[in-house]
Amino acid sequence: MEQLKEQSIDLVVTSPPYPMIEMWDEQFCSINPAIKKEIDCGNYNGAFEAMHQILDGVWQELWRVMKTGAIACINIGDATRTNNQKFQLYANHARIQQQFQALGFDTLPLILWRKQTNAPNKFMGSGMLPAGAYVTLEHEYILLFRKGNRRQFNTAADKHQRKQSAYFWEERNTWFSDLWDFKGVRQDTNNRELRRRSAAFPFNLPYRLINMYSLNGDTVLDPFAGTGTTLLAAMAAGRNSVGYELDLNFLPALHTMVEQNISYLRQVSIERIENHLKFVQTRVGEGKKLKYLNSYFGFPVMTAQEQDLQILFVEQIEKSGEQSFRVSYFDPQYIKSIAPEDLAILNLK
Ligand SMILES: C[S@@+](CC[C@H](N)C(=O)[O-])C[C@H]1O[C@@H](n2cnc3c(N)ncnc32)[C@H](O)[C@@H]1O
Repeated sequence: MEQLKEQSIDLVVTSPPYPMIEMWDEQFCSINPAIKKEIDCGNYNGAFEAMHQILDGVWQELWRVMKTGAIACINIGDATRTNNQKFQLYANHARIQQQFQALGFDTLPLILWRKQTNAPNKFMGSGMLPAGAYVTLEHEYILLFRKGNRRQFNTAADKHQRKQSAYFWEERNTWFSDLWDFKGVRQDTNNRELRRRSAAFPFNLPYRLINMYSLNGDTVLDPFAGTGTTLLAAMAAGRNSVGYELDLNFLPALHTMVEQNISYLRQVSIERIENHLKFVQTRVGEGKKLKYLNSYFGFPVMTAQEQDLQILFVEQIEKSGEQSFRVSYFDPQYIKSIAPEDLAILNLK
């Protein structure tokens, strides 16, 4: 990632190709043809290690480009594979964790992403007969690492930016749980078929992480951008972003996604406000109090930390180069002039 300067990135949110998951074999083998030989001769442990060595180069580059105090969020699933009738788990999450530690990152508590399925073939092995059946793989990991000490907010401007980037108390309660299942959260952007083929993660996954671990105006990096979900989420959240992708076939799709999803990105912000207003209504209905007022929207909030919370609303997205976009946001004074319960009008224009 030679275009990126040392210490220029505030947050990384990414999902690499998963070693030992067959859909990624071809790509790993094209980067390092020796991997094909390992697979063909049945040395799966060797193939697993060689695939991870490709990813290791990217993790090392992250150490260079990330600022001190920046966090890396790595979504990864383990793989199961049978080799010569020998069934085995390839623990990608453990191998990646080991490498981040070796590079000097500090490991933070991780998130389990529960991906429950009703597929009849989800149970593996010998069915109802002991002892050759295996528990289902219905989760992935979101590994969290920090480079160096906690980020400092020393200047008045930094402190202000941090307060404006706060999230709601009730969002904190869900987002900072160690088990995510995304049940009941909004549907993804369009282009589902492409998203399935590219193993895209749901929009909410990077969107939450970006709000949890970066500030408005920060720069977010996805070194394995795919369809660009992280970049879209960064646009919705008012962050700058950079993505790298080996497979350039995704580029036209990303352009279409950006162009077709401006109202979706705006809707993400509108729904945060709508959900907060519902939360307030429920709480007040239960006879409970909210002690503070948000200075920007004027509605009640639970804590003093939410008083300056400000949510940005995408106004326009323009192409600013062959592979870049410039996003503009509605003027905060204009947003302030709209009653929070009427913000949906932004999408009716
Ligand atoms: C799991 S997908 C990422 C999907 C993405 N999170 C999304 O939502 O669309 C991994 C991506 O990494 C890309 N890739 C693999 N090796 C790469 C490398 N060395 N540099 C850049 N991209 C790479 C693959 O082409 C693939 O699109």
